[in-house]
Amino acid sequence: MKKTILVVTAACMWAAAAATAQEQPQEPKGKAVFQASKCLSCHSMETAGFKKKPNQKPPDLSTVGSKHTVEFLAGYLKKKEAIGGAKHMIAFKGSDEDFQALITWLASLKAEQK
Ligand code: HEC
Repeated sequence: MKKTILVVTAACMWAAAAATAQEQPQEPKGKAVFQASKCLSCHSMETAGFKKKPNQKPPDLSTVGSKHTVEFLAGYLKKKEAIGGAKHMIAFKGSDEDFQALITWLASLKAEQK
């Protein structure tokens, strides 16, 4: 419960920060964090231009927002939640601000948006 409130508060803070930085029509901050966090050393994201390599096993994250909520991603990427009994291979190590940007962006990547 406490964790949920924290996540929601942080997500709101992020949204407020995003709203003030509105003029710059650049790429979402979450995408920059994704690239900087070496997620791409294991994952592809075809819709963002990061092509899947032959024999690449970890799932493509193009439509990960259709599979998981921001709340789940918050736990999973800190190794507190599991998928099919298995926790994620790494825990996110960056700042809370970067983490919120990352999971908010990932959760927004839905299949129908392609
Ligand atoms: C060392 C390799 C590795 C790195 C680095 C890595 N992942 Fe993963 N990730 C995996 C593997 C393997 C799975 C599949 C695990 C499973 O299904 O149990 C996975 C699963 C996921 C899933 C669930 C996908 C789904 O379809 O359910 C998400 C979301 C995810 N990773 C996000 C990230 C993010 C964000 C980063 C960067 C912060 C990252 N991963 C870095 C290996 C990695």
